[in-house]
Amino acid sequence: MSDFKMSAKPGEVDFPRGLEGVIAGESTKSRVNGQEGKLYYLGIPIQELAEHSTYEETSYLLLHDQLPRQAELDGFTSALATSRQVPMQILEHIEKVGVKDHPMGLLRTAVSMLSAYDPSSEASDQEGMEEEAVKLISQMATITAAIGRVRQGKAPVMPRDDLSHAANFLYMLNGEPPDDYAARVMDVLLILLADHGCNASTFVCIATTSTEADMISSVVAGLSSLKGPLHGGANERAVHMLDEIGDPERARRYVEDALEQKRKVMGFGHRVYKTKDPRATMLQEFIREIAKRGGTEHYLEIAAIVEKTMVDRLGAKGIYPNVDFMSGVVMASLGIETPLFTPIFAVSRVAGWTAHILEQRSDNRIFRPRFIYTGPELGTAYRPAGQRG
Ligand code: SDX
Repeated sequence: MSDFKMSAKPGEVDFPRGLEGVIAGESTKSRVNGQEGKLYYLGIPIQELAEHSTYEETSYLLLHDQLPRQAELDGFTSALATSRQVPMQILEHIEKVGVKDHPMGLLRTAVSMLSAYDPSSEASDQEGMEEEAVKLISQMATITAAIGRVRQGKAPVMPRDDLSHAANFLYMLNGEPPDDYAARVMDVLLILLADHGCNASTFVCIATTSTEADMISSVVAGLSSLKGPLHGGANERAVHMLDEIGDPERARRYVEDALEQKRKVMGFGHRVYKTKDPRATMLQEFIREIAKRGGTEHYLEIAAIVEKTMVDRLGAKGIYPNVDFMSGVVMASLGIETPLFTPIFAVSRVAGWTAHILEQRSDNRIFRPRFIYTGPELGTAYRPAGQRG
């Protein structure tokens, strides 16, 4: 580090802002090909997993670096199904808070509370942390559904262990089992959002666990990061934008005004994808059918004009729709209220987060980057309070 100037004037030393292009480690979990718009989990194209897999199987793939044999899948599915219960004290807290906190804030708090009722939450060995991962993948769905129920003014619904992960989530959210189509749509959405390289929240998870912080603490850090509108919070804002536009006739002007005012149009742009996010493309392949069933077809024409206007204006800069532009419309079409969109992103991404946490801890070194110091002259004298100007 000796040849690296650690004290400088602001802007004097060049460095990649936002760690753009900086390698944070090696990982087997997913490969994001930003130039060609391709995504792979353990080398398998995301399209294959969306078409043939389930969220349970994809979670196993991410945690264990291989697709499970049938017996392994049965065991893992059963472990998930029997871990769905959440301590009553946490459900009571959710009912006490109700709509006073944003669902992502309440989810962050509720997940944090799990450690108070889980004697093995401090596990630091791979096997123990893997057991914590299974619990978190299961309970993230139960807690999110409870938050959704309480926001509807209804009591949380206890999980069933005879439904798939996606179907049980919708059952706990709506109080009745979903039809096969809705369960399938939710399952595909959970697969598509499960992992995505070194995105901001995954990076925060591995940086947190690199100090040997426990699984729950590391996932709570990821939840805090995902909440931000530039990351997981974009899906909620993208649908708010479509609602605000309201009429296809107003869509182009709305986007032009936003760009003129240097406002970010939510659901567009990506640090890695410089073409259309393959997940957005996949969701658009079946959005028409979903919207028809969900009575949300009015979004589609507005979204199409927003997309065309954005690509006409910024496509040359590599700005295209990302997953959040469409994922919100899918969830709205399933009758889910907008504030729950980012928590549902977390219901999926907890599989990737926990897989990366385990991977980091299997060959760990604490994350400790550097700042370039641009403060006052070194050796500046301390002045007693009475002598300060
Ligand atoms: C997710 O990293 C992941 O993998 C994330 C994710 C995952 O699965 O984990 O894919 C999920 O978070 C998707 C992204 C959701 N966020 C949004 O949709 C919010 C809107 N998008 C932008 O805030 C932005 O595109 C980011 C945050 C996604 C990427 O930010 P970068 O890489 O730092 O890009 P930037 O802000 O430096 O933008 C470069 C230029 C700027 O213009 P100039 O200053 O060069 O003139 O592009 C412009 C930006 O103003 N720009 C946009 C824009 N995104 C970038 N202009 C208008 N609308 C936008 N959405």
